[in-house]
Amino acid sequence: MSKKIILGIETSCDETATAVLLNNGKSITLLSNIVASSADLQSKYGGIIPEQAAREQVKSIIPVITEALEKAKIQPEDLDAIAVTQGPGLIGSLLVGVETAKTLSLIWNKPLIPINHLIGHFYANWITTGPTKIPTFPCLGLLVSGGHSDLVLFQSHGKFKYLGGTRDDASGECFDKCARLLGLPYPGGPQISKLAKDGNPKAFKLPRPLWDSDDLDFSFSGLKTAVSNLIKTLDLSNQQTLKDLCASIEQAIIDSLIKKVIKAIQTYPVEQVIVAGGVAANPKLTIELKRQTEGMNPKIFIHIPPPNLCTDNGAMIAAAAFFEKETKNPEKLEANPNLSLAY
Ligand code: KG4
Ligand code: ZN
Repeated sequence: MSKKIILGIETSCDETATAVLLNNGKSITLLSNIVASSADLQSKYGGIIPEQAAREQVKSIIPVITEALEKAKIQPEDLDAIAVTQGPGLIGSLLVGVETAKTLSLIWNKPLIPINHLIGHFYANWITTGPTKIPTFPCLGLLVSGGHSDLVLFQSHGKFKYLGGTRDDASGECFDKCARLLGLPYPGGPQISKLAKDGNPKAFKLPRPLWDSDDLDFSFSGLKTAVSNLIKTLDLSNQQTLKDLCASIEQAIIDSLIKKVIKAIQTYPVEQVIVAGGVAANPKLTIELKRQTEGMNPKIFIHIPPPNLCTDNGAMIAAAAFFEKETKNPEKLEANPNLSLAY
């Protein structure tokens, strides 16, 4: 493959993210990676207000595209394609990215490649940022984000089998809802993770739903309810109690995820796991996944992107586009908030 350069645009939730990536035929590298987020507003209001997120994205989309091109020292004519998140996500937010990408594709006369955001997350593992190796097939994919928790079996690029997913809340959603119950700001995952570092993960006994079930599904809403009941009996102004509870919540979520990852490894012929999504930025998840799969036969290799490529970004969208053959007529592309992995 000759050298290729793609601009990635991601606006599925509250971030306005762009990146320029280079594929030289041997490796995919970042030329720039820009993320503008309305995090201050979210933490003020305890979550995302869709209309407000979209309004902020309208303001920042052109500046972040300009910045990504400038940082990469790339002119629009140097691009081989424009990749954009088609869905799933918030419709107002998706429209900002999709309509901008369609317009640029027409003005700059560049192919337009729509990407499923959930597939995009996995492709963060194909970006070379250090000495780590890139995944090979077949591999097991674990997606853990704010809206999704899914297990898939990848056979090749674009070919995968859906194995299971959450029946209620996603793992990131569970972190966020528990954090809210504890009075911590949004997004809750990083907050809980920070406090958990100095807490005892065995301090409180919390449920791990579907632990012994035969499927590869997850369930996290019972954990949130248990936390809601438990805190009525606790003094959370005691910092150690708060830290112990955070550590116990984090451990319960991580244990539930790893239990089904191990079950999937034992069921399917895989030697590699690719982890993706915002919750993959959790350092304890990385440590525990590696520890709990150590010594398995055959040996299991765990791929996890660096934290800034786990949470929403434009780089993963551009990376996925290098493997997507289908381009879309810009006049026909429509944002689709309901895309999923479970076809
Ligand atoms: O992938 P992502 O950025 O957006 C979605 O596609 O949903 O994931 C966001 C989720 C949030 O629920 C956030 O709390 C969680 O990822 N998250 C974390 C950490 N960093 C972000 N959860 C646990 N530990 C973290 N360090
Ligand atoms: Zn995401």
